[in-house]
Amino acid sequence: MIDTLDISIQKVSESKINQVDFDNIPFGRIYSDHMFIADYKDGEWSDFRIEPYADLSMAPASSVIHYGQSVFEGLKAYKNKDGKTTVFRPDQNAKRLNKSAERMCIPEVPEDLFMSGLTELLKLDEAWIPSKAGTALYIRPFVFAMDDYIGIKASDTYRFMIITCPVGGYYSEPVKVKIETEYTRAAEGGTGYAKAAGNYAGSLYPARLAQQKGYHQLIWTDAKEHKYIEESGTMNVMFVIGDTLITPETGSTILNGITRNSVLTIARDWGMKVEERRVSVDEVVKAAQDGNLKEAFGAGTAATIAHIKLIHHNGTDYELPAVENREFSNKVLKELDDIKAGHSEDKHNWLFTI
Ligand code: COI
Repeated sequence: MIDTLDISIQKVSESKINQVDFDNIPFGRIYSDHMFIADYKDGEWSDFRIEPYADLSMAPASSVIHYGQSVFEGLKAYKNKDGKTTVFRPDQNAKRLNKSAERMCIPEVPEDLFMSGLTELLKLDEAWIPSKAGTALYIRPFVFAMDDYIGIKASDTYRFMIITCPVGGYYSEPVKVKIETEYTRAAEGGTGYAKAAGNYAGSLYPARLAQQKGYHQLIWTDAKEHKYIEESGTMNVMFVIGDTLITPETGSTILNGITRNSVLTIARDWGMKVEERRVSVDEVVKAAQDGNLKEAFGAGTAATIAHIKLIHHNGTDYELPAVENREFSNKVLKELDDIKAGHSEDKHNWLFTI
């Protein structure tokens, strides 16, 4: 627990905001003016500060570079219809960051440190929140090991940082995905549920192979038999088969997505049949063949609701129904946007207002 959170603030002498074309925002390439930093040493977090966004200086032997002791989060800030800054479910990100941290032997980041750093940073950089439909200020909190030591052990020193960037959509079009049956993202007992940097590094090569064949992303399957659907790496996956919303249950191999949870909650509020359970590849393929696979989509902070327009499995491409005819995923995307903007009631108290 942090008793008093004294954050020192060093502002930029001149904002970069006028250099940004807010009508044309790529994902993850433009950063706002400031960043939040806290350091961990001697068993506690201290030295809370906001500085101009800038390169870091670190030892070449920093353990994060060699052994990947690093976890992160992703969440978004919006301007609501009254012009107030709101953040979507940041408490959930703070909790998940610590679940990931525990798995990677990283010390807990107290929730009030997470929330205070976020709040002060957003107060300073709120002009960076874009307003066009489908845009947001993406917030990236992360923690990494700082020891200048090349032996294998959990680091004694860490840095917690928050950076933000205005973003548009992560995928610019409905995605084509390949069900991966050779490579594995995560195995039982591994780190799959954690938002650990290494999970993403390990996914790059198989994703590249799929991209070379024209697919945007993979759908990972279980490590043992490649029989059950897991997640997509950048997002959780969901299917509407017949009239039921079906998604793989989370466990040690699947990230417990906050957008995933929000979609399931809204679907249940609407009285839709929802199943969180093991989903076999055969079930999805058969539903696609029989015309029962009405919708497939990814759910994630960056991806929001990403329609899946084609699924590849074992040499066959399965085309899915036209995106404009997808009742549930279009409606749930609109509902999420409406809640964030204040047009729909925030009945689960998901919005944190700055
Ligand atoms: C997010 O959705 O926030 C993520 O961290 C996924 C990443 C692909 C950007």
